[in-house]
Amino acid sequence: MCGIVGYVGPKSTLEVLLGGLRRLEYRGYDSAGVSVIAPGGHLETRKKAGKLDNLIAEIQANPLEQAHIGIGHTRWATHGAPTDGNAHPHLGGPESKLSLIHNGIIENFAELKAELLAEGTRFASQTDSEVAAHLIAREFAKVGDLPTAFAKVVNRLHGAFTILVIHEEQPDVVLAARRNAPLVIGLGDGENFLGSDVAAFVEHTKRAISVGQDEIVILRADSVEVRTFNGEVVHPDEFTVDWDASAASKGGWSSFMAKEIADQPQAVADTLMGRLESDGSVKLDEMDGLSIADIGAIDRIVMVACGTASYACDVAKYAIEKFARIPVQVELSHEFRYRDPIVTPNTLIVAVSQSGETMDTLMATRFAKEQGAKVLSICNTQGATLARESDAVIYTHAGPEVAVASTKALTAQITAGMLLALWLANGRAAAGRATIPAAELQRLGLELLKVPAKVSEVLDGLDLARKLGKDMANAKSVLFLGRNVGFPIAMEGALKLKELAYIHAEGFAAGELKHGPIALIEEGQPVIVIVPSLRDEESLHPKVISNIQEIKARGARVIAVAEEGDHQVADYAEHVIFVPQTENIFSPILTVIPLQAFALELSTAKGLDVDQPRNLAKSVTVE
Ligand code: F6R
Repeated sequence: MCGIVGYVGPKSTLEVLLGGLRRLEYRGYDSAGVSVIAPGGHLETRKKAGKLDNLIAEIQANPLEQAHIGIGHTRWATHGAPTDGNAHPHLGGPESKLSLIHNGIIENFAELKAELLAEGTRFASQTDSEVAAHLIAREFAKVGDLPTAFAKVVNRLHGAFTILVIHEEQPDVVLAARRNAPLVIGLGDGENFLGSDVAAFVEHTKRAISVGQDEIVILRADSVEVRTFNGEVVHPDEFTVDWDASAASKGGWSSFMAKEIADQPQAVADTLMGRLESDGSVKLDEMDGLSIADIGAIDRIVMVACGTASYACDVAKYAIEKFARIPVQVELSHEFRYRDPIVTPNTLIVAVSQSGETMDTLMATRFAKEQGAKVLSICNTQGATLARESDAVIYTHAGPEVAVASTKALTAQITAGMLLALWLANGRAAAGRATIPAAELQRLGLELLKVPAKVSEVLDGLDLARKLGKDMANAKSVLFLGRNVGFPIAMEGALKLKELAYIHAEGFAAGELKHGPIALIEEGQPVIVIVPSLRDEESLHPKVISNIQEIKARGARVIAVAEEGDHQVADYAEHVIFVPQTENIFSPILTVIPLQAFALELSTAKGLDVDQPRNLAKSVTVE
């Protein structure tokens, strides 16, 4: 889960590389480094443990020459501690003429290293990556052609890797290989780019190519060649990146997370755009890969995802089952993959991922495809592996999410889940198995159209959530309760607090309280309760009010998130954060936002880095 960037062209390579690394830093931030080939033809490398700023300080102290070709890396350590020596790039060969960066894990590195050690190769790091650097340098010394040497070695590597290489003796070319780790090419005019994702180069070009599994890229300033590991030339399709370059910068906000919370009205609106007509009807052109016949035949949906994305699935489950009456099972990708699950050709897999590179989710979908299931993905990143490997993709148009903690991607995923639920209900009707009256579907569509404006209203009313976050900077534990669609939001509220503020936090189904968790309640324990709508047909409101009374009686400090007009809740909760009224099933898009703001404020009050919490990387590209 490292970030990689490569460049060849007339611009200042260092600027391109550092700009790309800044936008990829979310992928890993325990060390960073760059290598360039200076005009005299010699390789120059700088690398440093810690965040990118440490590398920049190192380059200021020891400047690099102007160069027109180079590679850069930001690391999330797997093999070897995050030290200067283990930072990438790694140099290969006795004269260190080759430089290599790597994202992933080389599983057979021990045996390859033993082979090199037996020949007397000296290693400068504890990484698996350095092995590949020496192997390629050794092969190049034998065959004299870098692409040939590179292809030979990558064929010997097992595991997951994106590898980029430059060499002093072929100073016009960057070579790249991809197996089970992401790689995208950016096409410029007289210049070309490589990146872990399009954020690495979107500032310079919007023309991109996604590199396929087991493919090699030979990148020069005026040409791009893609071959398979076996040497066959391939002609992948080009696509246009629809992210705005400025969306990947902080733009005056104190953190990416603060900005991304504020981006949510746009993220939700953009995800609905072109898919929900002004009359409330749903149109999902991207579902071409799945016919009405496919939809008619589906007897079960399995949604797979990890972390926050899995909570989007939990919410979508309520909507799909309610609107389309198709049974939905939500599975953590890693649990699903390795327990011999039942998947048939009539199972629709819906994989949800912001990055589209989460290895656990990729493995789950690959496994399901092998069983004959169709895969639909809900993904935020164009050109991502998950999108490439799915039968159909609903892109969430949240724009680049840089902060490690997911915010706008989640609300966009829930929005896409709602669209999917309405679309499936329509598909069922078209297949002669209507589950809900057409007029009701249309009414729901019209309600969904109003949600982006309501998200803006929530953002305007976050003062109380922020104040409570600040006031609770010393809290040792915060509990979250929710019911129905509020339950996954309680889980998400707890996850945000764990990852950002490093305090104990747990989310419970409110109805589960008296089956155990109520024992945790003692005097002063903060509990945040997501209160269902008073207007809810399922009459969940009084049940949650009872839950609040039960915990209050045992000393809990109750903070409620409730809808405007809920005058009852104020009698029981110490504080109430109000959000606008909407359909209960859409309410998670609103109720989650105060929890995001609460966690951000609490973490900031503790002096922590909200964008880059400890031990985490944004995209988990290893299992
Ligand atoms: C939490 C968070 C993670 C991700 C999870 C899945 O704030 O961001 O839990 O949601 O790692 O990532 P994607 O959506 O990229 O598959």
